[in-house]
Amino acid sequence: MESPIKYYGDRFLRNTPKDVVFPRNDLKQIAMSMFIIMYKEMGVGLAANQVGIDERIAVINIDPEHKEESQIVLINPKIISQEGEFENEEGCLSFPDIRANVKRSEKIEVENYDYDGKKSVIKADGLLSIALQHEIDHLNGKLFIDNLSFIDKNLLGNKLKRLSRKTKKG
Ligand code: CO
Repeated sequence: MESPIKYYGDRFLRNTPKDVVFPRNDLKQIAMSMFIIMYKEMGVGLAANQVGIDERIAVINIDPEHKEESQIVLINPKIISQEGEFENEEGCLSFPDIRANVKRSEKIEVENYDYDGKKSVIKADGLLSIALQHEIDHLNGKLFIDNLSFIDKNLLGNKLKRLSRKTKKG
């Protein structure tokens, strides 16, 4: 089966998906199908617009064993506080074989909704904080390469051009 992932160069990745409007009865089904794709592609996070869904939904599981209790489903997520700064290497399922150091906030708080539209707050640091910021960026039409320094982005220039060209050819 061909991968359902949209790669860099696909304009859909630059769209800002729509807010989920409650009530809904298909959110769990959408999230579960996204987890299946994410695990198969060996990712730790996946945003809906990466698989052609125009809604503010993303899934994360930073546990290498993919334990169900560490699955996080983001619905209409919003960063409400952030502090500190650190830099780590990131990759993205929409950028096969490309990795780069990205500066992120160290600790964040995210307002989120569950399948029933109930609001909660997720507090995170470390790898989870990075994953949350990366996926919320996707839902704002932003990609991790947008956060690179001018020099680092230039270093990746040819790889990015090649990928974008390949994506546009289809
Ligand atoms: Co990504």
